Amino acid sequence: MSLITWSDFLSVEMAEIDGQHKRMVRLINGLDEHMRKGDANDIMAGVFNGIVEFAGIHFATEEQWMARYDFPGFPEHVLEHQQFTATAVELQNRFSSNQAEVTAHTMVFLQDWFYHHLLGTDKLLEKHLHAMSTGHLSSSQLGSKDAQAAGGVSVMLRSPSLYDGYTATVPLLFRRVV
Ligand SMILES: [Fe+2]
Ligand SMILES: [Fe+2]
Repeated sequence: MSLITWSDFLSVEMAEIDGQHKRMVRLINGLDEHMRKGDANDIMAGVFNGIVEFAGIHFATEEQWMARYDFPGFPEHVLEHQQFTATAVELQNRFSSNQAEVTAHTMVFLQDWFYHHLLGTDKLLEKHLHAMSTGHLSSSQLGSKDAQAAGGVSVMLRSPSLYDGYTATVPLLFRRVV
């Protein structure tokens, strides 16, 4: 079974962004398969590099949309992108230099980040663009994440997760090669 399964629940109703999110799902699931098969570290390092590279392209796309449509949550959203990139680049350097290996913790980090960022942060952009297109933009529509997130998503965003403190848990995200 795949680590992440795409469903309409994950859609942000923007074809370009959905297409990139689907590609991220394929890349993360691909790395998970390599990890489960116990493939060589250099293969997994290469796949991880691909994820970091594509994440950069994807973040730039979202940031262009945000800038173009004057998204008020731009600074917070960009900060999340930057925090992910900082952690991912640190891991990328360790994997590429054979200092460390991809582990199940690495996969939990990627999976957890993907769900939390997409459902909690990317969805705010969707709501902003939708409100702009329908002319119903108001400050109340751009409130807290919990106010934006409905039902199960709200519960999910409040639940404890590795993502909440991932910058402090980088040492848990890989296995040191001795
Ligand atoms: Fe995204
Ligand atoms: Fe994003």
